[in-house]
Amino acid sequence: MMRFDVITLFPDMFCAIKDEGVVARGIKKSLLEIHTWQLRDYSDNKYRNVDDKPYGGGAGMVMQVKPIRSCIEQIKQKNPSSKIIYLSPQGQKLTHQLAIEISKLESVTLLCGRYEGVDERVIEHDVDLEVSIGDYVISGGELAAMVLIDSVSRHVPGVLGNVESLNDSFANGLLDYPHYTRPEIIDGQQVPEVLLSGHQANIDAWREDQSLKSTKKKRQDLIKK
Ligand SMILES: C[S@@+](CC[C@H](N)C(=O)[O-])C[C@H]1O[C@@H](n2cnc3c(N)ncnc32)[C@H](O)[C@@H]1O
Repeated sequence: MMRFDVITLFPDMFCAIKDEGVVARGIKKSLLEIHTWQLRDYSDNKYRNVDDKPYGGGAGMVMQVKPIRSCIEQIKQKNPSSKIIYLSPQGQKLTHQLAIEISKLESVTLLCGRYEGVDERVIEHDVDLEVSIGDYVISGGELAAMVLIDSVSRHVPGVLGNVESLNDSFANGLLDYPHYTRPEIIDGQQVPEVLLSGHQANIDAWREDQSLKSTKKKRQDLIKK
């Protein structure tokens, strides 16, 4: 069982993965748990503010240390070993390999930034790992956290069927082979003959070949690796 604690100003956003799809199935099977924590509950003022103006001036607001630290402390009371991951465009890029590594942890806490991000002292003192979903900036860490939870959950034993993910892109260093379903012909486009042959060895060989061709065409960088 893997547990995700999420620190966020927008806990309702997580319904998108808690209620539908693979992650929701994992929760129903008691293989995954997602707990959201409203950061405003840890504010020390009556307006429930958790951000303030940046020292040195400049645009935007910065998320304060105190509420984040108090929330992390509370989470750690129950799960002292929980790894604290800050979703950040400055972090280590989320890859298939990193998703596998994170899936081996029993418990992770995901800190979702907003505004200009969090006070640097949180990163220095409280965060174990910064993770980015790509070289672009989005408006908050919530979507990034959901991408991380989904990609990691797929590697938690039992969440997917046994063979469901074996041929997914990146699993063996290559991209997935092409998929087809009924009908055999549509608008003059035919399913490759070999897939209708029933000859499993030929089908496997064709898929391997297609996987390699697709990777050469779309992702030369993976071939070089
Ligand atoms: C508007 S961004 C702040 C960006 C920050 N000022 C910077 O340039 O590094 C607000 C929050 O969105 C999240 N975020 C934005 N882009 C992200 C990315 N590529 N990967 C992960 N999280 C991201 C982070 O949690 C960040 O604190």
